[in-house]
Amino acid sequence: MKKILITGGAGFIGSHTVVAVHQSGYQPVIVDNFSNSEKSVLNGIEKICGRAFPLHEGDCVDAPFMRSVFKAEGEIAGVIHFAAYKSVNESLEQPAKYYKNNIGSLLTLLDVMQEFKSPLLVFSSSCTVYGDPDECPVTEAAPMKETPTPYGKTKQICENIIRDVVASGRDIKGVALRYFNPIGAHPTGFIGELPIGVPNNLVPYVTQTAAGIRDRLTVFGDDYGTPDGSCVRDFIHVVDLAEAHVKALDYLQGVKEPRCYEVFNCGTGHGHSVKEVVETFEKANGLKLNYKIGPRRPGDIEQVYANTDRVNALMNWKSKLSLDQALKDAWNWQKMLNKK
Ligand code: WQD
Repeated sequence: MKKILITGGAGFIGSHTVVAVHQSGYQPVIVDNFSNSEKSVLNGIEKICGRAFPLHEGDCVDAPFMRSVFKAEGEIAGVIHFAAYKSVNESLEQPAKYYKNNIGSLLTLLDVMQEFKSPLLVFSSSCTVYGDPDECPVTEAAPMKETPTPYGKTKQICENIIRDVVASGRDIKGVALRYFNPIGAHPTGFIGELPIGVPNNLVPYVTQTAAGIRDRLTVFGDDYGTPDGSCVRDFIHVVDLAEAHVKALDYLQGVKEPRCYEVFNCGTGHGHSVKEVVETFEKANGLKLNYKIGPRRPGDIEQVYANTDRVNALMNWKSKLSLDQALKDAWNWQKMLNKK
């Protein structure tokens, strides 16, 4: 079986991707420093897959460590690189930490991949690289606009690093997947999102409110120029998103040229508003959510959702799971967490 190194494999999207990679016949190898994830996630992965996977605990910025991983594992067919800090707010408070880690880990990885002749790279990017797009649905041809946070800037910089390294003639076959808004959890309830502290993101805040951990959800503004006044996003089930990484590996293995760099939107192609998420959550789970309308959150853009024509056609991937299913799975996961 072809070995796939998954950095950040104990994270939210990383853990779901470990499962998808295993179930697609590859052999996942996990690298994680557990700076923003818990070791208990590995138990959840094991329960779903019926086996554990090799784990290397350490920091992707650390070149000797990363070399030791490649040496220990022998031939690695490809790397899926999730390991990065991802809090939009924290990046505003500690920009240097974000630039050092998010860019440093990619630079180290590219060097070690070259040294060990491991050619395939799937990079975890984000729709945040578009900034506030001029039009929606947004295509991959849209320019990278000014993005307000260091987190978003690190994603823009990392994409450009891969593009430039490939253009310089290095034999890397790379794909950047621009995630829209990942939500939900694995249907088994064994893995899901583990926000540390008060969730910044909408859906974990919704499930924690429903669970009584938070008193009330605040909808940040309903005076936007959208049908119901609340912001519109492209909420994609994390299980669909995990599958996109497998499709990206398959795509790259089909590339005949010695090097390439492609970017793909990973969204559903449909926008849903914050209020629609609340209403869908209530209906899907048969409960009433305590929420109020509050002021806009600084930095929020009115709407962003994906044009998925290119990823559907070239990477042969399309999301399958509905918003309703994602919100059911998110609530199921929250209830499993409450039992712990
Ligand atoms: C979604 C909508 C909020 C919380 C961020 C990152 C992006 C990606 C996903 C990493 C917005 C509203 C939220 C709440 C609310 N992360 N909201 N009440 O900001 O679209 O994207 O996370 O890749 O890069 O920028 O996601 O879930 O924070 O917000 O009304 O308590 O929900 O205003 O309109 P966002 P989000």
